[in-house]
Amino acid sequence: GFDEVPGRYKVRDLSLAEAGRHQIRLAEHEMPGLMALRAEYADAQPLAGARIAGSLHMTVQTAVLIETLTALGAEVRWASCNIFSTQDEAAAAIAVGPDGTPSDPRGVPVFAWKGESLEEYWDCTEQILVWPAADGAASGPNMILDDGGDATMLVHLGLQYERAGVVPPDTLPGEPDHTHEMNVVRAVLRRALDADPLRWTAVAQAIHGVTEETTTGVHRLYQLAEAGELLFPAINVNDSVTKSKFDNKYGIRHSLPDGINRATDVLMGGKVAFVAGYGDVGKGAAEAFRGQGARVIVSEVDPICALQAAMDGYQVARIEDVLDEADFFITTTGNKDVVTAAHMAAMKDKAVVGNIGHFDNEIDMAGLADLPGVTRTEIKPQVHEWTFPAGVGPDGTDRGDRSIIVLSEGRLLNLGNATGHPSFVMSNSFSNQVIGQIELYRDAVEAPSGDGARAYEQRVYRLPKVLDEKVARLHLDALGVRLTTLSAAQAEYLGVSAEGPFKPEHYRY
Ligand code: NAI
Repeated sequence: GFDEVPGRYKVRDLSLAEAGRHQIRLAEHEMPGLMALRAEYADAQPLAGARIAGSLHMTVQTAVLIETLTALGAEVRWASCNIFSTQDEAAAAIAVGPDGTPSDPRGVPVFAWKGESLEEYWDCTEQILVWPAADGAASGPNMILDDGGDATMLVHLGLQYERAGVVPPDTLPGEPDHTHEMNVVRAVLRRALDADPLRWTAVAQAIHGVTEETTTGVHRLYQLAEAGELLFPAINVNDSVTKSKFDNKYGIRHSLPDGINRATDVLMGGKVAFVAGYGDVGKGAAEAFRGQGARVIVSEVDPICALQAAMDGYQVARIEDVLDEADFFITTTGNKDVVTAAHMAAMKDKAVVGNIGHFDNEIDMAGLADLPGVTRTEIKPQVHEWTFPAGVGPDGTDRGDRSIIVLSEGRLLNLGNATGHPSFVMSNSFSNQVIGQIELYRDAVEAPSGDGARAYEQRVYRLPKVLDEKVARLHLDALGVRLTTLSAAQAEYLGVSAEGPFKPEHYRY
């Protein structure tokens, strides 16, 4: 069942709101960056008039983000960016609002629950792009806050569909190449056009910009910009240092073992863990396993990251060489086809397989389901045992029945099996989101009317380093950090201002 008022909210169970509100209250204490931004901008209301369509995991931490955006004056509509990542108590609390009750909700329109079908997922994404106006004339958002780029993709595909009448599977570079999912998306686009033939033109024209949370979404934005197809300016939040070097690394270091533990409770110490990819997420994943006493093997395609992994003390190997050795296989690449069905069929008995990259195409789940004789047993939601028939293994001997445990059906396991990153690290990421939203919205409303008057063009930007440093600053007191101050002579000697920014753009941290 659901609790639903069409156009207003659709959540699993509004009666969870009180539990959600308690968690939000505790999370606020752990999110000093967001709370400082609320205090700083309480009077200025820099987001007054902003209508933000948010597509980002509907967790407790995201609830604090949403209520920061509304505290700064924005109207918000929200959906999750993954079918398994919603915390239903957080969604309920957002729908009810801080001052409402389940019988009189006064919160933010939210369309999200844990365990959506793909059809429901894209319906929810469409819901955040429809702004019912008081006079009954629907309008759209004027800002997007995205994680993975699905809301942005829907607008871009919608416009192409409206103009050309077709959405070929390869129209948008980097779109998930899932035939079924693209058919679902097409149905949503078609329905919207049936209701209003100029629907997507109107939506696209109204949008001043998007702020994008993650590596995969940023990758899609750069592809669009390079093709000259990006419809509005974008801020790449992911590549703020206080995002990717914290959330992607330290967030994963916390939430990967959390997901594995809640899903399986299998001991990591003494076991062998294989981590595909040694970027920011891979580094956090490898460190998490090492911290639990596992022996970690990493795979990489990039010689620099491979060398880093080796220098950090990890064995670097190819997945083919460790199939019968590793107890855990975790993908962190943002690439596709990293773990194939043939790989899984050759894995050690009861190996745990999971993905923590953005999309579910890193592990070939469709290929696994197609293997002859394979069976799937649900241990609990988002935990499935896949059993292979007895047969002759690669070494020529009969290996007997074997099975592997696949987490979250190949989707982000830290959000599917646990509750994602902890509040403190998300406070850094989301402070960048809020600053990015203010930046793009202010640029649009302050620009003199007419084309070309805005400082931001249809390109992808990063926040200036001084704002990145500001986000870090907002989190120092809570950890008892005492920062050293440069003397005037020292600042001059280094050629920087004593207030920062402290590093050149090319510095890598
Ligand atoms: P990154 O670009 O820093 O790292 C990915 C690494 O994978 C690169 O070093 C690349 O060389 C390597 N790689 C690519 N193909 C490979 C292959 N076939 N085999 C082995 N290695 C391969 O990206 P980052 O920031 O680490 O993000 C990775 C993914 O995780 C993205 O999809 C991102 O959106 C997602 N992400 C997920 C989070 C979560 O909470 N689950 C949080 C942050 C990011």
